[in-house]
Amino acid sequence: MNNNPIGLFDSGVGGTSIWKEIHQLLPYENTIYLADSLNAPYGYKSKEEIISLSLKNTELLLEKGCKIIVVACNTATTNAITVLRERFRVPFIGIEPAIKPAVLQSKTKSIGILATKGTLNSELFSLATKDFTKDIMMTEVIGEGLVPLIEEGALLSPEISSLLEKFLKPMLKNNIDHLVLGCSHYPYLIPQLTNLLPNHIKIIDSGEAVAKQTKSILLKKNLLREASNQPIIQFITNSSDITLKLLLKKYL
Ligand code: DGL
Repeated sequence: MNNNPIGLFDSGVGGTSIWKEIHQLLPYENTIYLADSLNAPYGYKSKEEIISLSLKNTELLLEKGCKIIVVACNTATTNAITVLRERFRVPFIGIEPAIKPAVLQSKTKSIGILATKGTLNSELFSLATKDFTKDIMMTEVIGEGLVPLIEEGALLSPEISSLLEKFLKPMLKNNIDHLVLGCSHYPYLIPQLTNLLPNHIKIIDSGEAVAKQTKSILLKKNLLREASNQPIIQFITNSSDITLKLLLKKYL
């Protein structure tokens, strides 16, 4: 079982930002990454649709013998992980916007969060945030239009810059000092965001935390692969693989 792969899925190419963190922390692990780009974006789908796609993705990864599933998508995690955990016996790791660390570190008591509609409107998101955001101003903005552009590989396009400028405006007005990236596609926009944000605003994403959690669960369940042969790494997509290849070549 220890040689079986870690399975990851996302609505598209974005979860490779999580794959990268996992591969860095656990370089000997075999991995299979599934990009459901044909159905991207998940952010505007109903909870039922997101659950049904997440079940399908999980089944495919389990058929390939995955020992653990990383839901490398905030939208799928916040809408479907409870059902996935009920339905399958394999351990699941999810990704949620890193609100807590931002709240704990914020001096202005004002933070921004950029995520999909599906994540921001989910019950899990409000449950997970309500306890520690009482005295905090949270400026939540839906990153409408970003995922399709990233899926096209238009990372440095003027369209992305002007969308980001628009999304950051209300956050800057509210004097945020932390920006939480609540979508696994968005870490690829960090260079553009850094250009647009004043230096004192810290950008937080959840990739490293997810990798650490994956390691700790594998360790606890005695499922870590021994440091031996080079790992087998697979990327699967049901759509064009152009952007996937671009990201793997340029950023990983
Ligand atoms: N990568 C996604 C997330 O983390 C999916 C966004 C989408 O497909 O709308 O939420």
